[in-house]
Amino acid sequence: MTRVRFVAADGVAVREVVATPGDRLLDVAQNDGQPLEGTCEGQMACSTCHVIIAPEDFDRLPPPSEEEEDMLDLAAGATRTSRLACQIWIEAAWDALTVRIPPERRDMRGRG
Ligand code: FES
Repeated sequence: MTRVRFVAADGVAVREVVATPGDRLLDVAQNDGQPLEGTCEGQMACSTCHVIIAPEDFDRLPPPSEEEEDMLDLAAGATRTSRLACQIWIEAAWDALTVRIPPERRDMRGRG
């Protein structure tokens, strides 16, 4: 079991959940009610699953593919430790993973 800690966009609210190795981070986040749309369902075509990994955890993740990096270039508020949550599968070796929801997000559904 791996503990996944979600830090809200405001940097204050924190929720911790337990994930099973093999779980996709996007699914773990959505099951917890985190505001990640994941519009393209993992096809690397939307970047609405963009998250920011804590720097101390980032290097433990398998590196992103070229397609993922290209999509991250388009993500609002992307940082050096940004990843697409649909491309991360929880590994047993990680004791914990801290994931921040990006502060700058565009709501693709629009409002009103
Ligand atoms: Fe679209 Fe991850 S769900 S890029």
